[in-house]
Amino acid sequence: MEKFLNLGSQPLANSYIKKSNLKLKEKKFKLQVGFNKKNYLVSIINTVPKEKMFNNEYPYKSSESKTMRKSFKDLAKKIKKKYKPNFIIEIGSNDGAFLKNFSKNIAVGVEPCKNLARLTVKKKYKTFSEYWSIKLAKKITKIKKADLVYSANTLSHIKKLDEIFNAINYSLSRNGILILEDPSLLSCIKNVAYDQFYCEHIYVFSTIALKNVLKKFDLEIFDIQNTKTHGGSNRYFIKKKINNIYKIKNSVRAEISKELKFGLHKISTYKKFSLKVKESKKKLLKIFLKAKIKNLNIIGYGATAKSCTVLNYCQVGGNFIDYFYDTTSYKIGRYLPGSKILIKKYKKLDKKKVDIAFLGAWNFKEEIFKKEKNFIKKGGKFITHVPIPQII
Ligand code: TMP
Repeated sequence: MEKFLNLGSQPLANSYIKKSNLKLKEKKFKLQVGFNKKNYLVSIINTVPKEKMFNNEYPYKSSESKTMRKSFKDLAKKIKKKYKPNFIIEIGSNDGAFLKNFSKNIAVGVEPCKNLARLTVKKKYKTFSEYWSIKLAKKITKIKKADLVYSANTLSHIKKLDEIFNAINYSLSRNGILILEDPSLLSCIKNVAYDQFYCEHIYVFSTIALKNVLKKFDLEIFDIQNTKTHGGSNRYFIKKKINNIYKIKNSVRAEISKELKFGLHKISTYKKFSLKVKESKKKLLKIFLKAKIKNLNIIGYGATAKSCTVLNYCQVGGNFIDYFYDTTSYKIGRYLPGSKILIKKYKKLDKKKVDIAFLGAWNFKEEIFKKEKNFIKKGGKFITHVPIPQII
């Protein structure tokens, strides 16, 4: 693996700090990203043990995002119409935002974060609060195999890809399919969205890399949809090679050709990206400095895990940002890891109190701009770092 990006010493992105713990030393790790020339996988080099990240205190709830709720609802409708599944396993079922669109008799969840698993159990969905493994796959599919395995924003968080796909292969019936959804490496590199890299995102998948990983398990991608979630994701439809029901669609060839044209198979592309990341840091700091000199009130909007990477890499903290607004109940009253900026309960932006908001949740830009149209009308501005740092 060849290292191409160094994002410095970083805290654990989703470890929001309680006021009483502000003086304690935070666990940090070196966030470096590398490219594997053999299979084209891009991954972080030093990983954090899964128990430190996915435990009883996981802050992110999919149901709290309107965009995610809609994305799951629309997909579930399509799945029911096209694939008519009788047994669905969701890996990383979070608080049940996807599961809830299916009958309790046919859908089960796998969610190692116990605080989240409790929520789906409450909604009467059978939930296995364990890490995904071959052992668990055998337990879940003892009586019947799944005709659909679904996983969104989860498989890229699991280090042992061999174990993941072995277990999925085992769980699927002969004609069963896997729908896998994760941030797209092409979008990440094109948008200089280096904040896709943080402790939980061990991999950011490209189609060419995923294809290589799946080959080993006689699995193949037969369709791809580009989605807007998480700043540009891919939804991969995957089947067993022996399954001839679904023909490989043009979307697969088109995505691969886009990736090759962009050079996702070449280390030089990643080296160029790394230079752009350094430039991005310089530009962002210039914008913050200028705003501060003008004495403008700057806050943060959306205390995302992604913003942890940006703030710590660019060394932006209380020196520039007074506080963050966030809608997630768990995060409110806590402090962002590393930068230790206070997170307050979200209120509609008021131009009398705020001049500029740094878009931590840039991936929800459209939803946020709609919500804050009055602030924008009155001359309120946002700072974003994607695709290039600018005031909008
Ligand atoms: P994500 O980028 O990891 O999905 O996290 C989104 C975070 O942004 C989550 O903590 C909620 C927050 N957020 C707001 O505070 N206001 C909003 O309008 C939106 C869309 C998100």
